Amino acid sequence: MKNLALNTARFVAAGILAVSLSAGAALASEGAAVESQSWTFTGPFGTFDRAQLQRGYKVYKEVCANCHSMKLVKFRNLADPGGPGFTEEQVKVLAAEYEVTDGPNDDGDMFERPAKPYDAFVSPFANDNAARASNGGALPPDFSVIAKARPNGPNYIYALLTGYEEEPPAGVELRDGMNYNHAFTGNQIAMAPPLSEEIVEYTDGSPMTVDQYAHDVVSFLMWAAEPKLEERKRMGLQITIFLLAFAGLLYFTKQKLWSDVDH
Ligand code: HEC
Repeated sequence: MKNLALNTARFVAAGILAVSLSAGAALASEGAAVESQSWTFTGPFGTFDRAQLQRGYKVYKEVCANCHSMKLVKFRNLADPGGPGFTEEQVKVLAAEYEVTDGPNDDGDMFERPAKPYDAFVSPFANDNAARASNGGALPPDFSVIAKARPNGPNYIYALLTGYEEEPPAGVELRDGMNYNHAFTGNQIAMAPPLSEEIVEYTDGSPMTVDQYAHDVVSFLMWAAEPKLEERKRMGLQITIFLLAFAGLLYFTKQKLWSDVDH
């Protein structure tokens, strides 16, 4: 009987451990050719680094947003708990930099107005055809969930951003308007290298390098794809602690209840 209880407790503990570790393992296991980076948001204790998310937003806004939309993210989300941590005042200012079409007004006309915190991020192109026409026929995918839409997303996007070669290897013929990238399937991508040293001005002293930009923008994309990541991990941890404590209580209750029974 004692053995059974002990084994059950072990089984529960092992299960809990497996569940907590699987989040990290899932990120690491897929996409063998892609090197794993160190991220603040992986593992059971993962959280986002606010300053990094703010820098990542800046990289997205100043570079990627020229081609990639982010239709599911609202300006106000930038002030949500667990996110980049902008203040509501800052969000108002950030939104007001953009114009959106609203309407119809009382005369039945559409009109332009500055964006408000409740508006979604403004897309760079009017529609997918316009986006393709400006990008040699290739469609820059929307970024709302890209970090989760690609296997091993964060590591893959980092590898893609840092995976350009100036010259394709001998014997490889690049198609017109294509760039050689060893992380992209088929190695030929229509996106020109978007990042270069000092392309975005950082004011917090972080290095203005491709490596740093790539880490920052990927963290930002991960937050956008899973804005409740911190809450989920915190909850998971609390439940794990509760289950462990509860398993202990059950064990001692069982010991007590059976202590007078011959067996
Ligand atoms: C000048 C336009 C342009 C800019 C700026 C740009 N991209 Fe792209 N991006 C594209 C196009 C076009 C594609 C589609 C490429 C293809 O299918 O060959 C693409 C594809 C991608 C993909 C998808 C790759 C895949 O697996 O399908 C990712 C991820 C990506 N870009 C990340 C970024 C990031 C991060 C930035 C900002 C640092 C950025 N891009 C800036 C045009 C751009």
